[in-house]
Amino acid sequence: MAEVTETLGLAREDVRDLLHTASLAPSVHNTQPWRFRLAGDRIELHPDLDRRLPATDPDDRELRLACGAALFNLRLALRAHGIRPLVTLLPGSEAPGALATVRRGGALPLDEDTRQLVAAVPVRRSNRKPFRDVPVPVEHRQALVRAAERERSWLHVVDHREERARLQSLVARAHRVQAADAGVRAELAAFTGARTDDGVPPASAGVRPAPQDEWALRDFQAADRRPGKDYESDPLIVVLCSYYDGPLAEVQTGQALQRVLLTATTLGLSASFLSQAIEVRAVRDELRRSLGGVVPQAVLRIGFGTPVAPTPRRAVERLLLAEQPVSA
Ligand SMILES: Cc1cc2nc3c(=O)[nH]c(=O)nc-3n(C[C@H](O)[C@H](O)[C@H](O)COP(=O)(O)O)c2cc1C
Repeated sequence: MAEVTETLGLAREDVRDLLHTASLAPSVHNTQPWRFRLAGDRIELHPDLDRRLPATDPDDRELRLACGAALFNLRLALRAHGIRPLVTLLPGSEAPGALATVRRGGALPLDEDTRQLVAAVPVRRSNRKPFRDVPVPVEHRQALVRAAERERSWLHVVDHREERARLQSLVARAHRVQAADAGVRAELAAFTGARTDDGVPPASAGVRPAPQDEWALRDFQAADRRPGKDYESDPLIVVLCSYYDGPLAEVQTGQALQRVLLTATTLGLSASFLSQAIEVRAVRDELRRSLGGVVPQAVLRIGFGTPVAPTPRRAVERLLLAEQPVSA
């Protein structure tokens, strides 16, 4: 196993903290599909292709979104050290296979907004439980829209009644398609329940979905819910979009995803995903048409939640790729 080494002029313990912070990002089924190579003057972020979900995420689109979210955390962790991160997305021959490299820029003092985002990283969680029946204030929505824009992405707020109803039925349709797919079911089962350092444990699973639920949430086999306890009536529903398709857009939008989620956390908001509508290609195409051409990358349900348990993470040492061999 590779070892954490001094990188970007930082001591080993600081580098370990950076990578741990990166690994607190969200990922589908908590697969944590990222690896890092410490290369002295740069940290390379690579996809961990052993952690693909070929049935759920056949094009590795969500895998790259998750890596983008980890990259955003890494940027924040450097900002916490007063360092300006210099990021190259899809760096090509300089770091073959990498989704991004991060170098040390000049000094950049930590501003208050960024400090709050840094503090939100360890407390952000996906929250599948019912939210409180309190509407999300307009200023909060605007802050989330701006967070996406800061990362060159678009956050579409699904406001109108007909549009919400249409999206609800798209999510429900995609949910049924996935429920009938043995491959998708097997991937969900593999990452559900008590595992050591990945997957979704029962304490994070939320509550057991029921047929009357308006939004079809993924079933991580939570404990049965109390009779009569239903979901909030009107969560904020948003679709995070990129302006173009492909791996670069996905890594970019992953950063936007994490900025949106962390901004939500700083505002006391919780979020969970409704990714079925994006994972099932035919449904995603329909959603894309209804949005007028921007590329839907994530559907989020947002509201004021109650506390949830954290999901586990792999040890930093397990995320390291060996230094590249010097070629002869
Ligand atoms: C791109 C993406 C899509 C996701 N889709 C879903 C989803 O459809 N349903 C769900 O319950 N969780 C979804 N998640 C949340 C993950 O399950 C969650 O991030 C993971 O279990 C780690 O937990 P945490 O977010 O609390 O750190 C998604 C996460 C990402 C990054």
